Amino acid sequence: MAGVGGYVPPDVVTNKDLTRRLRTSEEWIRTRTGIGARHVIAPGTATSDLAVEAGRRALESAGAGRVDTVVLATTTPDRPCPATAPEVATRLGLGGVAAFDIAAVCTGFLYGLATAGGLIASGGAERVLLVAADAFTTLIDPGDRATAVIFADGAGAVVLRAGEAGEAGAVGPVVLGSDGELGELIEVPAGGSRQRSSGRPAAVGEEFFRMRGRETFRHAVERMADAAHAALEGAGWTVADVDRLAAHQANARILAAVGDRIGIAPGRRLSNIEEVGNTGAASIPLLLAQATARGEVRAGERVLLTAFGGGLTWGATTVTWPALPSP
Ligand code: UT7
Repeated sequence: MAGVGGYVPPDVVTNKDLTRRLRTSEEWIRTRTGIGARHVIAPGTATSDLAVEAGRRALESAGAGRVDTVVLATTTPDRPCPATAPEVATRLGLGGVAAFDIAAVCTGFLYGLATAGGLIASGGAERVLLVAADAFTTLIDPGDRATAVIFADGAGAVVLRAGEAGEAGAVGPVVLGSDGELGELIEVPAGGSRQRSSGRPAAVGEEFFRMRGRETFRHAVERMADAAHAALEGAGWTVADVDRLAAHQANARILAAVGDRIGIAPGRRLSNIEEVGNTGAASIPLLLAQATARGEVRAGERVLLTAFGGGLTWGATTVTWPALPSP
């Protein structure tokens, strides 16, 4: 990992703002989710706008003018077709490179790391820009208090290049998993081929994101903790080796439970959920970019990443943090 960048759009929605249009309270949101505010895109903007900003910052951080592949992990492509990555590549001045999207909802960054790492290891690419960006609020039913308080917009990106196993920036084996049996826990029912092939317009509300929160919560804790243990084993690390935990910022209570279950002390858990909410695929790289800028993670520190999302999907890996200029 040779560069990192993050971006959130300027508009902020506070908990107080939400209480004006939803049957909720500032106290409920803060105690049940740990979120104080979230950033949202302006009307007319889209995922690619977030992705380009984060991608530019990661390229600058890596001192890399050029990469030969752009991978975009997103739940909210600009359009159902084509993929958004080619547009992001072109707007970054990288037109002509391989560019494709990955869909693994909030686990997208980990799936992207595995894909980019595989491309580099096989010789298919030398340098990869991996961006994870979600304009999650475009999927949210503004009247659904259970999801509207959590999800938000943002982007994070990293530059990956070939390197040695022991050097700063080394990414360990990426552990990934999925369970399609539980796909209905987190879904947008309409907008895909199943609904379109019926020849009927989507039923009211079916184009919005739905989440069965309480069940999702339980699976998120178990899967993130189990994947983290497997990633530690794959890297040959013990829990005591971990300097920083960078877990998907799903909900502060989930983060606390995951940290406790893995056995990582609160002081070693990175978190920005209070300021940015749950930004889907962007969550981990955005967290890493902000933590780097604030000096909360430093060169040589051993970082454990773990994520969980719709699919269901989950994943984890380890990174020895590289020496980077502040993004
Ligand atoms: O990003 C990856 C995947 N996502 C996650 O990992 C998120 C997982 N889930 C969660 O974060 C939590 O389940 C939520 C924050 C969505 C909900 O918190 P919870 O503590 O699990 O609440 P609940 O769904 O069990 O609901 C408890 C009560 C319900 O009322 P009743 O049925 O007990 O009367 C809800 O209707 O809280 C109610 N409720 C709210 N009340 C005030 C749900 N949302 C709100 C709200 N304000 N915003």
